[in-house]
Amino acid sequence: MATIKVKDKDFEISIDASAIDAAVQKMAVEINRDYEGRNPLFLAILNGSFVFAADLIRKITIPCQISFVKLSSYSGTASTENIKELIGLNEDIKGRHLIIVEDIVDTGLTLDKFLQDLKKFEPASVKLACFTFKKEAFKKSFRIDYLGITIPNDFVVGYGLDYDGYGRNLPDIYKIVSS
Ligand code: IMP
Ligand code: MG
Repeated sequence: MATIKVKDKDFEISIDASAIDAAVQKMAVEINRDYEGRNPLFLAILNGSFVFAADLIRKITIPCQISFVKLSSYSGTASTENIKELIGLNEDIKGRHLIIVEDIVDTGLTLDKFLQDLKKFEPASVKLACFTFKKEAFKKSFRIDYLGITIPNDFVVGYGLDYDGYGRNLPDIYKIVSS
């Protein structure tokens, strides 16, 4: 199979653009059905979700809004664990029906913390739309309400996902070629 190089590693195709589009379409149909009359606010988590969010939102046919947040990494003083803090939340989300838009859930640690942080803003409801899910790596128990594609526990790039910042522009999703 043909491989491509992203930075210094080789990748091979895993999910092509047409399969991606079909999966996004399926998610949008479900969201359009479930959120009729509820004026949802999509909260997309930067950077990775910008491509998926742009595709998903254009398939949403009900009134909705979208905003973008970021999770900044910093080293906690009491722990060596990387704690990620929510930044860029400008919207008043109290009483809103939120749909979190994420590109990938791997261990789930990042999103678990984010979902906890959101609670203090008292949204009316929170659901999760995640494009890819590494089921075998998942360590948490939160529910992914709208899921695109379950993928094996391989490192992937493309469709917004990056390797050291590279590869986000690729229209297909590629997995790393193990050496
Ligand atoms: P978590 O393990 O679910 O907390 O995932 C943390 C973050 O790691 C994700 O939001 C992605 O930004 C990144 N990540 C996890 N797996 C991959 C991958 O296969 N490719 C690119 N980024 C990944
Ligand atoms: Mg991400």
